[in-house]
Amino acid sequence: MSVPFVDLNPIHIPIMDEVNYAIKRVIDSKDFIRSNVVEKFEENFANYIGVKYAIGCANGTDALELALEVLGLSQNDEVIVPVHSWVSTASAVHRLGAKVVFADTLIEEYTINPASISQKITSKTKAIIVVHLYGHPCQMDEIMAIAQKHNIIIIEDCAQAHGAMYKGKKVGSFGLLSCFSFYPSKNLGAFGDAGAVLTNEKVFAERVKFIANCGQISKNEIAYIGRNSRLDAIQAAILDVKLKYLDEWNVSRRRLAHMYTKKLAKSTLITPVEKTGFYHVYHLYVVKSSRRAEVVREFEANHISCMIHYPYILSDLKPFSSTEDFPNARTYQNQIISLPMYAYMEEHKIEFVQKFLSTL
Ligand SMILES: Cc1ncc(COP(=O)(O)O)c(C=O)c1O
Repeated sequence: MSVPFVDLNPIHIPIMDEVNYAIKRVIDSKDFIRSNVVEKFEENFANYIGVKYAIGCANGTDALELALEVLGLSQNDEVIVPVHSWVSTASAVHRLGAKVVFADTLIEEYTINPASISQKITSKTKAIIVVHLYGHPCQMDEIMAIAQKHNIIIIEDCAQAHGAMYKGKKVGSFGLLSCFSFYPSKNLGAFGDAGAVLTNEKVFAERVKFIANCGQISKNEIAYIGRNSRLDAIQAAILDVKLKYLDEWNVSRRRLAHMYTKKLAKSTLITPVEKTGFYHVYHLYVVKSSRRAEVVREFEANHISCMIHYPYILSDLKPFSSTEDFPNARTYQNQIISLPMYAYMEEHKIEFVQKFLSTL
């Protein structure tokens, strides 16, 4: 038996009739670009998160770039981002021409450390991008208080946290703008690349839509050098079907996570925290081990896939290289291991993994 890191069949097979019907309707309509199917998904997703507007775009990286572009960043502006995230969180800032300022993370939660944010604020700080990494919400009370005190904009990177909640409120509804990726393996994934920017501010929603539609204000009237980053109608139709099941899938991920945590209670591995008020949706289930190489070999020998998210911190990457110290992120960078995690993992595979985990 082998256990893959992610398998989408268990969630896709039961809904394929519905998905195929939705795809066929788009094909029959021949309305592939910015159709009412896109608008319907945008409205449903905005309602799901609890914000007024969602604007679909081509992927999560574009969502971050579009959100930053509407802020009108200049070379003098600084944007604080966590040093431990997927590269897009920082590359978006760099590509928009502002200065990337890294903040350290929290050792237990892996998300941005509010105390480190406070240390990094200067008169040039324009925004902070918080990342609800692995599906665990950031410490939003502390972060919102800092932002309010210094009059700084919060952008949420929710690429790994569809449906996660902080004190009962969905992530993606705290910041001025929030960014989602619908990369296929995300908790809500398309059948290809897709993304969205969410906001409660009409002016920002209109601006994102305008920039992502080549800066076109009306037919043959280009008012700005924009880009093409529209959400494809077929992807929107698929996402609209899948959105209805997202909560159930998150419950299934949480069940698997809690099973892992229970099995590993007596092992040397450090399991993820889930403090009161944080509804973790386990895009990834990440443990720490001081003997990582050995543990990874044991996983491999038992044909159970595992991965590392990520084997570097962003300040180590050549384009951002810095000699600054980030003690928390640095401490766990060589210890983290992501275990197989997907909704509706088959019972015989769960039993197989459970048996293996009790040997660790
Ligand atoms: C935290 C984070 N931000 C941004 C992105 C970028 O999303 P996309 O791959 O859709 O461009 C990802 C995708 O993996 C991510 O995990």
